[in-house]
Amino acid sequence: MKQKGINRFTGKRVWVIGASSGIGEACAKALLLEGAKVALSSRRADRLNAIAAHAKADQTLVIPLDVTNHDQLTQGYETLLKTWGGLDLLLFVSGMYVPLRADNFEIDAAEQTIEANLLGPMRAVALVLPAMLKAHTGHIAIVGSVAGYSGLPKALAYGPSKAGIINFCETLYYDLLPQGISVHMISPGFVATEATAQNDFEMPALISAEEAAAEIISGIERGEFDIHFPKRFSRFLKFLRILPYPLYFWIVRRFVKI
Ligand SMILES: NC(=O)c1ccc[n+]([C@@H]2O[C@H](COP(=O)([O-])OP(=O)(O)OC[C@H]3O[C@@H](n4cnc5c(N)ncnc54)[C@H](OP(=O)(O)O)[C@@H]3O)[C@@H](O)[C@H]2O)c1
Repeated sequence: MKQKGINRFTGKRVWVIGASSGIGEACAKALLLEGAKVALSSRRADRLNAIAAHAKADQTLVIPLDVTNHDQLTQGYETLLKTWGGLDLLLFVSGMYVPLRADNFEIDAAEQTIEANLLGPMRAVALVLPAMLKAHTGHIAIVGSVAGYSGLPKALAYGPSKAGIINFCETLYYDLLPQGISVHMISPGFVATEATAQNDFEMPALISAEEAAAEIISGIERGEFDIHFPKRFSRFLKFLRILPYPLYFWIVRRFVKI
């Protein structure tokens, strides 16, 4: 049994959470060009309104919210349902990264990261699941990261949050495939965005947010569960994680300045 893709986005109702910048903004703009109806969510309302201003009035909905706030997410979903009557694709892109290592490990920063990157998507999925299960249709796409494949330096909270997303998507897949609901686990490598602008090292195989959005949208179109890119980097990391630990740690130390 293979999960369904989306042949045409025209008229499809998509909720992009994390639409104000980077990969989420690029996805929202590309989906709007393809004729989808896009609900735009994140905290910065001004940025969401600016994206909506370039689309047809009935094509967008601006729903400002913080993914760490359960009530705001619930109200946002209610607004979406009231306006459009349903949702075809939840595209959860929102995320945060604080470089954390043993000598600056702060539990506050770790809690915020888990709240935003792992519990945020879980909250959104919990909201949309009942209607999708009832209708036996729908798509849930969540942006994780190749940093979730296995431990990498400077990611003491980000890494576990993204590893959690991988496990969450894998586990959802068992339950949702027989129900006719597709799960898309998205694992980007390095993408040039506000988030990575803070990196003080050369990022291998760096791609643009527009390239990332194109990979995501074509992966969803094809019904892929495991959407990872750019392949020259993500395949290398997939290979690393099957190596014995001594070899894995040795290679990562050679490639990353620690
Ligand atoms: N860039 C990369 O190299 C890379 C690699 C792998 C994975 N990723 C993942 O890709 C996703 C997008 O990252 P990006 O690089 O495009 O970063 P970005 O440009 O910083 O965008 C992050 C988005 O998340 C939103 N966001 C953050 N915290 C939020 C919160 N509490 N509530 C609501 N929205 C929130 C931001 O909007 P507001 O500030 O307006 O709320 C923004 O729209 C993240 O999940 C990230 O972990 C990125």
